[in-house]
Amino acid sequence: MKRLDGKVAIITGGASGIGAAGVRLFSENGAKVIIADIQDDLGQKLADQIGPNVDYIHCDVSKEEDIINLINSAVQKYGKLDIMYNNAGIIDGIFTSILDTEKSDLEKLLSVNLIGPILGAKHAAKVMIPQKKGCILFTASACVNIAGLGTHSYAATKHGVSGLTRNLAAELGEYGLRVNCVSPYAVVDTGISKGVAEVEEEAAVEGRRLIGEVSNLKGKVLKADDVARAALFLANDDEAGYISGVNLVIDGGFSVVNPTMMNAYAQFLAK
Ligand SMILES: NC(=O)c1ccc[n+]([C@@H]2O[C@H](COP(=O)([O-])OP(=O)(O)OC[C@H]3O[C@@H](n4cnc5c(N)ncnc54)[C@H](O)[C@@H]3O)[C@@H](O)[C@H]2O)c1
Repeated sequence: MKRLDGKVAIITGGASGIGAAGVRLFSENGAKVIIADIQDDLGQKLADQIGPNVDYIHCDVSKEEDIINLINSAVQKYGKLDIMYNNAGIIDGIFTSILDTEKSDLEKLLSVNLIGPILGAKHAAKVMIPQKKGCILFTASACVNIAGLGTHSYAATKHGVSGLTRNLAAELGEYGLRVNCVSPYAVVDTGISKGVAEVEEEAAVEGRRLIGEVSNLKGKVLKADDVARAALFLANDDEAGYISGVNLVIDGGFSVVNPTMMNAYAQFLAK
């Protein structure tokens, strides 16, 4: 028996990175998966590669009509929706001062990273409430758990996603629905990280080196597959059937450690 046998899952942002890893893993585990993305060629190619149990549908998560079409297509084809993984997201840079924060960038970020997940949850809940079962997932970020990891706009949207997770869990528990999010530390093998580093290959290499250097869990690099495995766990009723309202942080302990004292002590001992 596979872990998601017979389940129907939608993964937004499923054409690339964490979402694409989720598409492969969910499908390997027996789910019928619908990739929802705006990168049509990439999304369709992935669906074709995996086979008939994976479809691609163009969906800009910031547009409610696209979300409605997405959910309707899933229900028309399979008669139900078990898992809605709202994962699509964008960034507006690495570290930007509040003084340089542009309203237009902020609005774009809010529309994809926060309004998108709210709309995704709304229309998934319309199907899941009468089913009296279902799982809603989001990808937030480790920047929810510790400050200083991203821009103010990005951090604000991801705090919104984590708050939404809890608030939705409070409303939807009555219907047996579970709502959770995953919060990864920097994942270096995805479109977002490549986009940031597109400036120069040298900068990309340096960025990856720095991420490794400041991480807590040494000797390992966080991959999209690691995040997808956490999402799979949360999506699986047999393993996570009583887990709701949780922000599962995938950061190797980064956000619970403040190395300042340990470093100062090591420097003192070295004198
Ligand atoms: N990569 C990291 O270090 C990291 C860390 C923490 C959280 N995250 C979050 O993980 C999620 C996935 O990002 P990723 O790292 O896999 O990057 P990615 O760029 O590889 O994947 C994001 C996907 O979202 C899609 N997308 C963007 N705008 C969209 C829209 N309006 N409608 C539908 N799809 C849209 C993109 O086309 C892309 O396929 C995002 O929510 C991101 O904020 C990433």
